Amino acid sequence: MVSASMPSLWIDTDMGFDDLAAVLTVAAQAHWHIAGMSLVAGNAPLPVVTDNALRAAHCFGWTFPIHAGCAQPLACPLVTAQNILGDDAMRSAGRQLPSDRTALASDDAVTALAQHLRQSAQAVTVLALGPLTNLATLLARHAELAPRIGQLLWMGGSAGPGNHSAAAEFNAAVDPESVQQVLDHHVPFSMVGLDACRQVRVHAADAQALRAAGGARAEMLADLLLGYVQIASADGHLPMALYDPTAAAALVTPEAMVFRPAHMVMELRGEHTRGMTVLEWRVPRRAAPNVLVASSADEARLRATVLQALARAAAAP
Ligand code: BDR
Ligand code: CA
Repeated sequence: MVSASMPSLWIDTDMGFDDLAAVLTVAAQAHWHIAGMSLVAGNAPLPVVTDNALRAAHCFGWTFPIHAGCAQPLACPLVTAQNILGDDAMRSAGRQLPSDRTALASDDAVTALAQHLRQSAQAVTVLALGPLTNLATLLARHAELAPRIGQLLWMGGSAGPGNHSAAAEFNAAVDPESVQQVLDHHVPFSMVGLDACRQVRVHAADAQALRAAGGARAEMLADLLLGYVQIASADGHLPMALYDPTAAAALVTPEAMVFRPAHMVMELRGEHTRGMTVLEWRVPRRAAPNVLVASSADEARLRATVLQALARAAAAP
């Protein structure tokens, strides 16, 4: 049941498994309502991302509209994570999402989000789990809608080393111009970067615990979670950082994450550093703050939020 006091949430995603786990984390919260979803190329090309999202929607009974968005970054060719996540960006130790799909609401996510921002009774929270191409395109076309975004919470960037390169996190590296353009519109911008996400880890034993619930959906989610853990080590003995789910869990349990103000610019030219999120912490002395950066995570709390949501999704009829 949706009430007028519920936060209005829009999710922007390049649907791989950790994006799926992030959506399930929010969907499990009775006091959050997902109003819509936009898809963006990132983990995989847009048709693959779209297929994943529509299969997940059918499997988990999502009723919010799903719109396909930008297929290419603003100013550079698309680089995907399929070398790590597999062609379908849903690396699994066994079972996959069933092939049944819901229908796509539209292939114009930017217009759909613009309409939602205009029509929503309250400012909209946007949870962005991929490259920011859709958001930058929206703001370029409809700058007047920037004040309608109450909060943009982005999983991306890093206050330390990268993962795509030594300096750059994947979502930032895929479309660095889009991040800078969103910053230029002064939306309330919170960033959950790699260094925060690496404080929240998932283990092979968590997949086994999920499997113990029994049933086809529990087996499938356990296989997908184990496939995700195996990104860190093929035999699963190392924990894997929870990326997008940490951002989702921080959104729904904000007391479990400490955010610090900073001034951020994107490195757009560096030969070895393109896509780096450059943070000036000496605010407001050196620069006005334009971002809140997740710095310290309550791992137990955030892990529990994510794993309980997955268990709930596994057990649903
Ligand atoms: C981010 O990159 C993607 O592969 C994940 O889905 C996550 O959004 C982590 O760097
Ligand atoms: Ca993602």
